[in-house]
Amino acid sequence: MHNEMMHRPVVKPAVLDFLRQGTTQLTGALGELEQQAHEKGVPVIPHETVTFMQTLFNLKKPQTVLEVGTAIGFSASLFATCMGATGRVTSIDRYPLMLEHAKENIAHLGLEGQIKLLAGDAADILPTLTPSYDLIFMDSAKAKYLDFLDDCLRLLAADGVLLIDDVLQGGTVFADAATIPHRNKAIYRKLNQLLTRVFNDSTLVATLLPLGDGVLMITKK
Ligand SMILES: C[S@@+](CC[C@H](N)C(=O)[O-])C[C@H]1O[C@@H](n2cnc3c(N)ncnc32)[C@H](O)[C@@H]1O
Repeated sequence: MHNEMMHRPVVKPAVLDFLRQGTTQLTGALGELEQQAHEKGVPVIPHETVTFMQTLFNLKKPQTVLEVGTAIGFSASLFATCMGATGRVTSIDRYPLMLEHAKENIAHLGLEGQIKLLAGDAADILPTLTPSYDLIFMDSAKAKYLDFLDDCLRLLAADGVLLIDDVLQGGTVFADAATIPHRNKAIYRKLNQLLTRVFNDSTLVATLLPLGDGVLMITKK
């Protein structure tokens, strides 16, 4: 699995270099996991999103997190570490091989007691979950974000934060539809529908952060 958007930054390269190398680095086994993921091209959150999450967790102090898209368990482990021993993460992934790696990594980090992995498609699992979560992180198939939105909002605590990763497609999400290659058209259409829906919903307060390939941050009014 290749993270092409890691190499299509939406901010100037010098800014990105600072955000990735000049900011505080992760240490120990979690730092090693981040480094390994980047070396192997596993699509984990980029470092600018790591420091943003650390800051957000420090500010908001969530205790329950739902993640859609575990991959090798890097962001789930970061969240569990940020929350400390009392925090709980539930993370969903449909790719068994990824979940095997995630299980090993989470055990290596000693975070098994904090992270619950759910195997299957989020389309099937999200409707079975019960509220509420203090923070929800959607980081899965981009064309499905809009389909998962109502369930995520149902599961989100009244004062919770919903974060949706990789919504900019390297900035091409705002390009003329005629310039979008056929293979990206469905994602392009669905991401545009998602942005239109979120920024026209009078019950939500949202912003779009240029971190990585774009993080959509949503709260309830
Ligand atoms: C970008 S990776 C997640 C990276 C991870 N959040 C991190 O930063 O460490 C996306 C993951 O979402 C999973 N995924 C994609 N669509 C999904 C779906 N509909 N249901 C469950 N998992 C899905 C993929 O199998 C993949 O492992």
